[in-house]
Amino acid sequence: MTIATANSPLPQVEADALIVPVFEAAREERFGAADLIESGEITGKYLDLTLIHHPQGVAAKRLLLAGAGKPDKFDAPQLRRLTGAAVRFLKSKSVKKIALALERNQATPANVSAAVEGAVLGWFEPDRYKTGEEDKKSLESFTVAVENGSQLSAAAERGRILAEAQNFTRELVNEPANRLTPLVMAEAARKMAAEFHLQCEVLDREQMAQLGMGALLGVAQGSAEPPALIVVRYRPESAAGTAHLGLVGKGVTFDTGGISIKPADGMEKMKYDMAGGASMLGAMRAIAQLKPAIPVTAFVPCVENMPGSRAQRPGDIVTAMSGKTIEVINTDAEGRLILADALHYAKQQGCTHLVDAATLTGAIVVALGHLNVGLFANDDAMRDRVLAAAKAEGDRMWNMPLEDDYKDYLKSPFADIANVGGRWGGAVTAAMFLKEFAGDTPWVHLDIAGTAWIDDNKPYISKGPSGVPVRTLVRLATDWR
Ligand code: BES
Ligand code: ZN
Ligand code: ZN
Repeated sequence: MTIATANSPLPQVEADALIVPVFEAAREERFGAADLIESGEITGKYLDLTLIHHPQGVAAKRLLLAGAGKPDKFDAPQLRRLTGAAVRFLKSKSVKKIALALERNQATPANVSAAVEGAVLGWFEPDRYKTGEEDKKSLESFTVAVENGSQLSAAAERGRILAEAQNFTRELVNEPANRLTPLVMAEAARKMAAEFHLQCEVLDREQMAQLGMGALLGVAQGSAEPPALIVVRYRPESAAGTAHLGLVGKGVTFDTGGISIKPADGMEKMKYDMAGGASMLGAMRAIAQLKPAIPVTAFVPCVENMPGSRAQRPGDIVTAMSGKTIEVINTDAEGRLILADALHYAKQQGCTHLVDAATLTGAIVVALGHLNVGLFANDDAMRDRVLAAAKAEGDRMWNMPLEDDYKDYLKSPFADIANVGGRWGGAVTAAMFLKEFAGDTPWVHLDIAGTAWIDDNKPYISKGPSGVPVRTLVRLATDWR
């Protein structure tokens, strides 16, 4: 796939299809479109698409007039979705050489990046195990054409890097659990790290036992598949300060619930319970290419949560690496157990600021639906950094409460803390549990259970893994001051 920018006037852009955004109430005189507007066929309504073959006076073979909605509402997130929808439409028509024409005032770096992202994300389909249509699968080229536009290739390149990282995450998340075990996920991390010149280390069960990671290993013991703790390191050539960002991601390659087993209905979706971990690996892939001035280390604890004969039982008490004892009331609350040890290890490895991402609770889906990531923070400045990064990247996140009073919900009569907090406020108590292990280190927890997977096809993106919150994490690192 080639991603390019071209400094050409619209009529000269060569492509199998040229996407032209058209606003509501536009007086489009070009390409014989005036008639179509007159007849009401083209309204400019957001994501309304009209394909014109053999357009007049234009080098492109087809024009795709793409409704851009109201001009005052048009911004980078809107453009990302617009190119996504246009590209998906063209893909269904087997058109693979695509260009987008932007007016010069629309061609800000943020918009150019977003346009490329929308195209690369929109083209993606979770279809690698469908045989027979291989020739249809790749986008040959996507060009952003701006007359007299200059210096836009860096923005297009950033968009490509971000979207490819997000698609890397989406591929991993979509892998079924028989093909993506913890060790296979570790292998994928190694391969990615080698390709992008990152350091990668994988801790095995014995090493984790030596470190005292009893919470993580308790979850792992129910499966025949061995666990792995993936550590991927990015180091800048010269760091701008003393901060060191740790990215910790839940990597449960399949969550049956363990002995507290889940109902059969919909359980197949639990292959995505490693989406947090896959997001951290995707973010590292982009960070390696965009080279921020802050050191970043990703920690991805990978386990399979199974009810095997060695599985931990409700009532078991495990000792986390931090020394805290945990009563495992429900073996299905396994994500917080593996993250407890990974967060502690991240601090021990020198991280001064932490972000974790996890498909942690069904309760966050009840609270926020599929539209917002649930964000929890123990530090206002860190919260604001992540919210600003999310806003800049068009990822929606909602700040949730994390007050000390909630800690009472996690009391255990027999151990320092219980791993579940009863019926109410499930997303908050899960975050509260993690907070015990983040300690005083500035930390943000992202519960992505509702946002890492898209249940239905959308015009601009396929159903399946979304790749949220890769872009936000990358932006957090690249914008670090
Ligand atoms: N992986 C699940 C969370 C989840 C649920 C993600 C639904 C996506 C959709 C997590 O490990 C889990 O099972 N959490 C339990 C916690 C409960 C036992 C306190 C939950 O949310 O039901
Ligand atoms: Zn679970
Ligand atoms: Zn889980």
